[in-house]
Amino acid sequence: MNDKIKKLTIAIDGYSSCGKSTFAKELAKRLNYIYIDSGAMYRAVTLYCLQQNLIKNKSINKTQLLNSLKDINISFNYEPGNQVFEVYLNGINQTEEIRSIEVSNNVSPISKIKEIRKKMVEMQRELGRNKQIVMDGRDIGTVVFPHSDIKIFMTADPEIRAQRRYKELIEKGQDINYTEIEKNIRERDYIDENREFSPLKKAEDAILLDNSHISVKEQMIWIMDIINKKINED
Ligand code: DC
Repeated sequence: MNDKIKKLTIAIDGYSSCGKSTFAKELAKRLNYIYIDSGAMYRAVTLYCLQQNLIKNKSINKTQLLNSLKDINISFNYEPGNQVFEVYLNGINQTEEIRSIEVSNNVSPISKIKEIRKKMVEMQRELGRNKQIVMDGRDIGTVVFPHSDIKIFMTADPEIRAQRRYKELIEKGQDINYTEIEKNIRERDYIDENREFSPLKKAEDAILLDNSHISVKEQMIWIMDIINKKINED
C-alpha cells in the first residue's frame, strides 16, 4: 500500500438488496474511509414526506414537498470500528424508521423527482469532496462521481435478494411476508432502471460483481486485489 490509498473515491452501484451496503461498509472499514449510503438519503426524504402527510396512496404532493426541501436536513454518524451507520433527519435518529416497509414502498417515486435528485447529488458531492469515501447507490459511478477511481456494479438473483431481505427484516422483528418483499424488490428494480433521470445502469467502466453465490469474505478478497492493483498502477 502506498500514499495513493488515501486518495480514492469508490463508487458502488447496483440493484436493491444485493448487499451493497454490507460490501461498502466493510470496505470503508478496511480502508479507514468514510462510508455513505446514498439510498438512506432518499429514504430519509421519503420518511419526511410520510411524517408530513405529503404522500397519500402513493400520490405525492410534489409542490408542497419542493417547498419544504429547505426544511429537510439529513446527516450521518458513521463509526467504522463497530460498523454503525446512523441516519438523522432534522436532528432525530431515524436509522430504523427509514428501513420500514412503508418507506421502502414509497421511496422509488420520491427518488424519481428531478429536484430531489439534484439536492441529494449536491449533498453527496460535498460529502465526497475530500475523497477517501466509499459511497453506494444507483447513480454514484454514472452521475455523482463519474470520475471515481473504482466503480463496482453489483447484482444478484432477485429471489436470493428477497430471501436475504426477508431474513434481515424477520430478525429485526418486522411482521412481513416473503411475497411482499419479492414484489417490492422487483418493483424497485423496474422503477430504478426505467426512471427518466439518472436511471440505474452500469457505468461503462464499472466492474460487474454478481454476488448471488459469493460470501462477503470472498468479495473483500476480490475488491482488495482490485484496489491493490489500482494503487500500484502507475
Ligand atoms: O439502496 P436503497 O434500497 O436503500 O435505496 C432506496 C431507494 O433510493 C431505491 O429504490 C432507489 C433510490 N436511490 C436512488 O435513486 N439513487 C441512489 N443513489 C440511491 C438510492
